[in-house]
Amino acid sequence: MKQFIENLPKAELHLHIEGSFEPELMFEIAKRNNIDIPYNSVQEIEKAYQFNCLQDFLNIYYQGASVLIKEADFYDLTYSYLKKCAAQNVRHTEIMFDPQTHTERGVAFETVINGIANACADANEKLGVSSLLIMSYLRHLSEESAFKTLQQSLPFKAKIKAVGLDSSEKGNPPSKFKAVFEASIKEGYVPLAHAGEEGDADYVWEAIDGLKIKRIDHGNNALQDEKLVTEIVARDLALTVCPLSNTALQVVKDLKKHPLKKMMDLGLKITINSDDPAYFGGQVNANYIAVQEALNLSKQELYELAKNSFQYSLLEKNEKKKYIEALDTFYQQEK
Ligand code: HPA
Ligand code: ZN
Repeated sequence: MKQFIENLPKAELHLHIEGSFEPELMFEIAKRNNIDIPYNSVQEIEKAYQFNCLQDFLNIYYQGASVLIKEADFYDLTYSYLKKCAAQNVRHTEIMFDPQTHTERGVAFETVINGIANACADANEKLGVSSLLIMSYLRHLSEESAFKTLQQSLPFKAKIKAVGLDSSEKGNPPSKFKAVFEASIKEGYVPLAHAGEEGDADYVWEAIDGLKIKRIDHGNNALQDEKLVTEIVARDLALTVCPLSNTALQVVKDLKKHPLKKMMDLGLKITINSDDPAYFGGQVNANYIAVQEALNLSKQELYELAKNSFQYSLLEKNEKKKYIEALDTFYQQEK
């Protein structure tokens, strides 16, 4: 099963580039930028990565991201993640980045986007991994700040496929961002959002009806509301589920109790993702392996999850077809 998962062609649809920041690279970049970080060793960092909830994690995640200053830092961060994709048979990835985490500290929008986008272009050419970018608004900040970010993004529109919504969910409902999502859609961005990770089902309703999102990031708490589940199935919206993130942030207490299989049985379209792999103990393949073991998933179910990852990506139809054909060829040989 492990080998089957490792060789399975797949896409990753829920990944925060700032959350892919491995301790070794963090030390290296902090050193070259002459920034002090409050850890002396990788072991100390790993000890600090114990979270009781989303906010516990976010505090440490924003602190880690604060050593990123120059375009080369964003490039190195992104290329390092894309190399891991290539090694895991992740053929396509949709990368979230949080501009406000950087612009609020005085780093130019341009620095962030150029570093990330150049790494994506190089990885496409050299590693054969394709990618699209999702600009995520931070929901703990104001809608006005999100509007400012939207404005800053416009000269770089060709490099950005979608907008997202992340950070502290509770107390920051999707409705807070209704106007900026409308404006983002007008600019041609595909709307996506985190919903139902810690927030209740009503946040998921707001995200699908108010923000008109095309895919739900996490969405675990949609299961609280039967009518909502029926609606998500009817609208054919996929959920980007992140198993190891869920246990690390105590959204799910035990992987054996993870609702992933139940979600699939209800007819929801599920994909498996790593969210913030450097913080939650594993890349995308580790997530597949962990849920396969915990829930005893079959090869057929793993194939479906991988197929969804291409089907519900933001790629053009013919691109999806190309990836799914490669997956089907693999599956016919290995099932
Ligand atoms: N949830 C909300 N915001 C985030 C996350 C997450 O899992 N990861 C990075 N920002
Ligand atoms: Zn996330």
